Amino acid sequence: MADLPFIHRFEAGARSGARPLLVLHGTGGDENDLVPLARAVAPGAPLLSPRGKVLENGMPRFFRRLAEGVFDAEDVRRRAHELADFVVAARAAYDISAPIAFGYSNGANIAAAVMLLRPEVLAGAVLLRAMVPLTEPVASTALAGRNVLVLSGVRDPIIPPGNAGELAALLERAGAGVEHRSLMAGHELTQADVTLARQWLENDAAGLRAAS
Ligand code: MLT
Repeated sequence: MADLPFIHRFEAGARSGARPLLVLHGTGGDENDLVPLARAVAPGAPLLSPRGKVLENGMPRFFRRLAEGVFDAEDVRRRAHELADFVVAARAAYDISAPIAFGYSNGANIAAAVMLLRPEVLAGAVLLRAMVPLTEPVASTALAGRNVLVLSGVRDPIIPPGNAGELAALLERAGAGVEHRSLMAGHELTQADVTLARQWLENDAAGLRAAS
């Protein structure tokens, strides 16, 4: 592993030209957690998977929260920039293109924060069980040309109703092409998440190839 400022796992991938995924775990996970899922949704793609640096009762996260669903806005900003800097350094170290974030829960929330604060760093995002991480004024073209898939659960006890829709609208106002699907699920992931994420990534890759 390259000497970078996050504990991380990197898999070079087997498919040439495949868009890398930035794999971001949920609270209490680590850099290994979502790798099998990422392999399932993007077979052969390079995977860059950091471990969140914030510890909450020993559980790794990507930023501090004051209570469930109540975020420390200052820390969200600081950690989003820190993660964005890591991605820039990792791209140089591993010679990869800008990744698509593939984040779950806290990992999806930090991915959304990176998109809003450092729009140039990510090529797009798959946000699983995400919520609005911060309300930041963003230029209406900041995310132009970037696509985001938001998959939320109608029975999610952690994310207030409507919040994932607000996030989708926020990203859309920043210029992203957003698809939001509300699944018959809770906070946990289901087979539908895997199927939809995989199809969306395949279509996104096909669109990018057609556009280039
Ligand atoms: C968060 O803290 O980012 C969200 O509440 C989801 C979680 O990680 O529990």
